[in-house]
Amino acid sequence: MPKLPVPAPLRRPSKPGEGGNGASSNGTEGGPGGGAMEQAKHGAAEGASGVAGWLDERSGATGFLTGMLFRKVPKGTNWFYTLGSATMFAFAIQAITGVFLAMYYTPSATQAYESITHLTNDVFLGEFVRGMHKWGASVMIILVFLHMGRTFFFGAYKYPRELNWVIGVVLLILTMVMGLTGYLLPFDQRSFWATVVANNITATGPVVGPYLADFLRAGPEFAATTISRFYAIHMLLVPGLIAALIGAHLYLVVKLGTTAPPWLKGEKPKSLRREEVG
Ligand code: HEM
Repeated sequence: MPKLPVPAPLRRPSKPGEGGNGASSNGTEGGPGGGAMEQAKHGAAEGASGVAGWLDERSGATGFLTGMLFRKVPKGTNWFYTLGSATMFAFAIQAITGVFLAMYYTPSATQAYESITHLTNDVFLGEFVRGMHKWGASVMIILVFLHMGRTFFFGAYKYPRELNWVIGVVLLILTMVMGLTGYLLPFDQRSFWATVVANNITATGPVVGPYLADFLRAGPEFAATTISRFYAIHMLLVPGLIAALIGAHLYLVVKLGTTAPPWLKGEKPKSLRREEVG
């Protein structure tokens, strides 16, 4: 297997007393021909590498980034392997647009609808950001299912990746909880009644169903307490859990590597072929 390119190590920043001004080995500076522009450019490059070196020495970020970005991928890796990253990108877009929506949204039974109407009609780019968040939610759900399908059909749920599959299942459930809790927030007729129905269905679930429905309703009636509870779950609890679990999910992807496409599984490594092992 050909060796992967290894990134050039970041230069260590010079310590106090080492005296060096970080003279580089490319021999561009210092010469009689080196003008002010050349020196300024060199200084800027030195400064950037100095900051990166300073951070790296204290955080060990190069090791992490090298492991993350230069990891080996199996032969036959294709576009289907981008679905996980696409899901992550959709989550990032939801998080960013959600922050802007939260600046204008009021989680109250009497003001929620008006705050959203104001955001849509009066705020600069409000309708656009709201649209991105609304359509982005569906995009994320579609992507997460496609990604799950890819990992299933490529057999990526098998040993040693079962734990990552289980983390994925929790991520899928949490993504759907985001959809459910977000749907109520505009607090118009449709979102109100759809959530009443969803809550009634939840209550019919076995064992925990009625308790879960009570918890979500936050009281005997669908009222002000329900919207606050959905809002807290939608913008604090579940996004935090999703972010933490994506971290664990990616850690395992980097640690275990990705699965080769199933049509390449038949190709045993040379060292394991019968004639050579036996
Ligand atoms: C928020 C949702 C999710 C995000 C952001 C996410 C992200 C990712 C990323 C970036 C990868 C590596 C690249 C790739 O193979 O596509 C990956 C791999 C993986 N994911 Fe997810 N994922 C999510 C949900 C899920 C779900 C719902 C499942 C299954 C139930 C799942 C199971 C897996 C498995 C088993 C792997 C390893 C793939 C392999 O070894 O080839 N993930 N995920």
